[in-house]
Amino acid sequence: MRWRILCVAGARPNFMKIAPLLRAFAHDPRFEARLVHTGQHYDDRLSKVFFDELAIPRPDVDLEVGSGSHAQQTAEIMKRFEPVLEREQPHGVLVVGDVNSTIACAAVTAKFFRREPFRAFGRTRKRPLVIHVESGLRSRDLDMPEEINRVLTDAISDLLFVSEPSGMANLAREGVGPDRAVFVGNVMIDTLLAARERARSSPVLTTLGLREGTYGLVTLHRPSNVDDGEALQHLLATLDGLGVHLVFPVHPRTRQRMVAAGITLDPERWSVCEPLGYLDFLRLQASARVVFTDSGGIQEETTVLGVPCITLRENTERPVTCEQGTNQLVGTSREAIVAAYHRIDEIARVRRVPELWDGKSAERIVAAIADALA
Ligand code: UD1
Repeated sequence: MRWRILCVAGARPNFMKIAPLLRAFAHDPRFEARLVHTGQHYDDRLSKVFFDELAIPRPDVDLEVGSGSHAQQTAEIMKRFEPVLEREQPHGVLVVGDVNSTIACAAVTAKFFRREPFRAFGRTRKRPLVIHVESGLRSRDLDMPEEINRVLTDAISDLLFVSEPSGMANLAREGVGPDRAVFVGNVMIDTLLAARERARSSPVLTTLGLREGTYGLVTLHRPSNVDDGEALQHLLATLDGLGVHLVFPVHPRTRQRMVAAGITLDPERWSVCEPLGYLDFLRLQASARVVFTDSGGIQEETTVLGVPCITLRENTERPVTCEQGTNQLVGTSREAIVAAYHRIDEIARVRRVPELWDGKSAERIVAAIADALA
């Protein structure tokens, strides 16, 4: 008998986290891992390209939910995921990160009973384990949909895998102890370290006419930064005034808002493009002079690459990137962004890679799941 684990991925930042986990499961004959793609992201540029570049196997199940309001999207994933559990009868469901697919599948699993009982944590049970990878991160900003997803998912998870020390402290404060929470490091960094060499041969710098170390890379898609046209215009104007050439792969959400607000960028100072694949984007990050972002994962990737990162948010759920890495959390005021830009060389000199961000996190996770089921 093999332990069947359903691994769920739905949106762009999930794919680089699920890739090393599927590989680690494939190396352990005690497991049979199956991939469920919710279809929360469906564009080739936000989804398919990652499957190709990261050698993620074709999904065993595709829920094809597409876009919608938060309630519609979450509800649709839940409705379509329940029959999958019925059919697959898994021992565990593994969810990653903080997107709507994460909470939707965790919530359905937490209320599901298998036909056959199985053993976990030394007891017999019928509910599949809810396994959350990238647990414990907290921005404490409930205006952020991802924060709701994090808190709710952790509250109903049986095994919580944590990427940085703040996560263990946050979970302890919420009453989750070391029996359920395990500090394993960062699976996103497993993917980065495995792909770094291949990314060096990406032609993206030549394609965009850029020279190594001379440009700023911009990514923006958080509702708080892009949904209000005036706020978005202000942010882009501030970056425009810094005097560094900017490369901006535009997320579909941001593109929609820019069009609606009539925002255009001067091609003299901006290279604007569609969202990029993993290898091209990694190459662009590694060779940037500075990165401006409101993404979560990019704060972590720049920390490992040793590239200065300026985070255009008021809070971060990833404080280790500021304490040890190259990240500066600055918010959105012009003064703060300009001041942070003038400090980038100094910050980059003192950076450190956080503990256990060593490329082996997925192996640790698979070993810990096996221990729980043994
Ligand atoms: C979602 C995640 C966010 C993650 C981000 C990465 C939630 C709550 N949010 O935000 O945590 O950082 O993905 O990209 O789960 N769209 C497309 N093509 C697609 C997908 C979306 O054009 O493949 C459009 C949608 O129609 C929508 C907009 O982009 O108008 C936003 O998509 P949505 O899935 O709602 O959230 P994201 O902003 O992408």
